[in-house]
Amino acid sequence: MAARLEIEGGVRLQGEVSASSAKNAALPALAASLLTAEPVVLENLPALADVTTIRQLLERLGAEFSELPGGGTRVQVSRLKSHEAPYELVSTMRASVLVLGPLLARTGVARVALPGGCAIGLRPIDQHLKGLTRLGADIEIENGFVQARSSRLKGCRITSDLVTVTGTENLMMAAALAEGTTVIENAAREPEVVDLAWLLQAMGARIDGAGTERIEIVGVPELGGCRHRILPDRIETGTLLVAGAITGGDVTVTNAVPRNLSALLAKLEEAGALLEVGEDRIRCQGPERPRPTDLITSPFPGFPTDMQAQMMALIGLADGLSRVTETIFENRFMHAAELCRMGARIEIDGATAIVRGVEHYEGAPVMATDLRASASLVLAGLAAKGRTGVSRVYHLDRGYERLEAKLQKLGAKIQRLP
Ligand code: EPU
Repeated sequence: MAARLEIEGGVRLQGEVSASSAKNAALPALAASLLTAEPVVLENLPALADVTTIRQLLERLGAEFSELPGGGTRVQVSRLKSHEAPYELVSTMRASVLVLGPLLARTGVARVALPGGCAIGLRPIDQHLKGLTRLGADIEIENGFVQARSSRLKGCRITSDLVTVTGTENLMMAAALAEGTTVIENAAREPEVVDLAWLLQAMGARIDGAGTERIEIVGVPELGGCRHRILPDRIETGTLLVAGAITGGDVTVTNAVPRNLSALLAKLEEAGALLEVGEDRIRCQGPERPRPTDLITSPFPGFPTDMQAQMMALIGLADGLSRVTETIFENRFMHAAELCRMGARIEIDGATAIVRGVEHYEGAPVMATDLRASASLVLAGLAAKGRTGVSRVYHLDRGYERLEAKLQKLGAKIQRLP
């Protein structure tokens, strides 16, 4: 039977806890190791199910992994033994599509299963494919696979129709080995894109403008090995801060990067939390009762869709009505119905959730269909009266490094049951 979490709610969380490194930076960093025959050393890979999945994929493609005695993970793809990302791995984790750009750039051929929809939306990859085609790849869809071929890719101007994080990353990796200059317009500005640019630069790539909407990449014939430290996870940081806020507690997250969390911090303050922001730490003292707070998700530096569910759990307890609008994914309100089972009053009207605050949640057995939705249920459980059982913990394990251990450290009564 799959593991579940049992939470006895009502404890005000207190203390200090450190953020792990970011899942959404670790995945592209690992994919980037395909761009060179030399070793790439990642100093602080987080222990996450999604990291295990991409490791399995890279191993199939020919990567060798070793743990270094002084710490860090060494990954080396001396020779590619396959150029295919199979359906079973892509369907487990969509980010597997990140191998498409690097494989094509290094070997001129890649075959990657089409991801298809998932629990939070349709999530097509047309912008990845459009960009690669502009770079000179010949792309066909055959039997559910993207089949891409090219001789050396050629620099070009790519204007993305919409802001896509992994799309920008895929194109940046492909363009790093292309001939000539590539400009990506309407690029994603997420901190994880910037972290990947730093890694690629350490490998010898020439990239300007990462973190802005215009990224310029001057292709080089070859990339080399490097050592890289992955940036801290802003979504994990945010989730732990909300844990402090929702329990009326006093939680400090260390190893944080406050500038990557501005939109969330503004909303926490609007909801009544008291924040103290240091250089690499954030202290959050929760209000007696949250204030109603409207929010709308948008690409960075806007409010992150990956924090929408957790914030909804918090304002579900507010003294009044809030509106939460999701603009990134079309089906990312799956947590609302589960929160309602705990006593929340939430109605969905298209892309907007109307959240009428209740005085308290009641513990209940709940389950979620995706990672951040599961996190929101854990948060609601921490605040609820009585006992909450969150099943399908494997969703959480995809993106949080032992979340329950960190919450226990803050005093939460939470345990993992087999
Ligand atoms: N989109 C297209 N065509 C494309 C690419 C994207 O229509 O070719 C659409 C998507 O369907 C979506 C929107 O554009 O509606 C934005 O999607 P994006 O491509 O930016 O998402 P992603 O790159 O697949 C990453 C994170 C997600 C995070 C989103 C948005 C990784 C590995 N994943 O996904 O993280 O929600 O950006 O910030 O970086 C999570 O960690 O829980 C998670 C889902």
